[in-house]
Amino acid sequence: MSVTIRFAGRAAKSKQPIIRVIDFLQKEDPEFLAFGEGNPSIEACPIDTIREISERLLAEEPKYMFSYTATLGDPQFRELIKKRMVEKKGMDPENNEILVMTGGQQGLMVVPQMFTNEGDAVITEEITYQGMLDTIRNFGGHTVGVRQEEDGIDVKALEEAIRSTDRISFIYLIPNFSNPTGITTSLEKRKAVYELACRYDKIIVEDDPYGDLRYEGEDIPTIKSMDTENRVVYLGTFSKTIAAGLRVGFMAARPEIIAKAANCKGLSDSNTPCFNQLICRDFLRDHDFEGNIRNICRISGEKWHAARKGLEEGLPEGWKVYDAKGGLFLYVVAPPYIDEEQFQQLCYQHKVGFSPSSSFAADEKPHGGFRMAFTPHTVPEIEEGCRRFCQAAKEYGEMNR
Ligand SMILES: Cc1ncc(COP(=O)(O)O)c(C=O)c1O
Repeated sequence: MSVTIRFAGRAAKSKQPIIRVIDFLQKEDPEFLAFGEGNPSIEACPIDTIREISERLLAEEPKYMFSYTATLGDPQFRELIKKRMVEKKGMDPENNEILVMTGGQQGLMVVPQMFTNEGDAVITEEITYQGMLDTIRNFGGHTVGVRQEEDGIDVKALEEAIRSTDRISFIYLIPNFSNPTGITTSLEKRKAVYELACRYDKIIVEDDPYGDLRYEGEDIPTIKSMDTENRVVYLGTFSKTIAAGLRVGFMAARPEIIAKAANCKGLSDSNTPCFNQLICRDFLRDHDFEGNIRNICRISGEKWHAARKGLEEGLPEGWKVYDAKGGLFLYVVAPPYIDEEQFQQLCYQHKVGFSPSSSFAADEKPHGGFRMAFTPHTVPEIEEGCRRFCQAAKEYGEMNR
């Protein structure tokens, strides 16, 4: 008998991310080089330390680690996260609490679940993380994209958007090495954005998965560190600093937001797997977590150098690479004559895949940009991938100018 499946509107609207399509092409054809998914450098994953911690946990805390645990997360782990947020990210310890999340992505689900009603708006940069755009849409919200520059969001345009948009549920920003653009918001702009949020009484969601992965230059204070009014919801993750597969992240925010977020989070998983939380807890407590970050930066930084060199030296005139100084992505801006979809197909013929801007656009339209997620590959693969991409760019230029 045939089965009538009636998907709810929100499920019907959901689509497969393009990065999965690109990575599938590599699975089908081993010669294909997919720079789709932003997996951190796997060779930098601290497997020996995780093994040592796991063995100790299995020997000494098996009952706890295999039980349900508090929705807020393991208390000692929350304290350790809080301590690091205070010491490294300038968070005020008096007015903020921590909620452990199942990956930063769960934070991106819980934030609109908490704040966004059907028909509400969320202000984002015009090119931003798909994982946030999709959850906002899933909860019936719509995204208002604001122009961005190489040092972050255009503050004047942000103020105009705030003034002209009804029912804003929050402002979403990735101030460090943004996904996909790699852009870092300058200190002046962070202050200006915070000042606007205070003036117009808006919540800021500061998503910071890449802040620890700086390869060059000095760290810039978080917006959370300026948060005298406690209106910033900070999202962090251990995906890029320990292991993405553990799926452990966190939210730092004022207590009443944390309490509500815990209720929302609990609906999907009751609690983040205790075993995975305890691996991260023990890493922070007993091992050299900061040294591990330095090692990740050393390994990924080499790849970043290779990718920058390959693109900057190989791209024809009219193309531009944004100057990202950390994170997992380089973003290439194409000249105006490029048709994003057509160029993507040409890249596939050259057996290389970058992610096109349309999947990261608040308005869902192509903006003539391509993201290279370089860390899953070796330096020679990165060099070859850049060579293929640049070759496609040259060919496209010759055919279409
Ligand atoms: C901007 C941004 N936010 C959040 C996440 C979520 O990361 P995770 O769920 O692995 O912690 C990612 C992952 O790539 C990201 O790029």
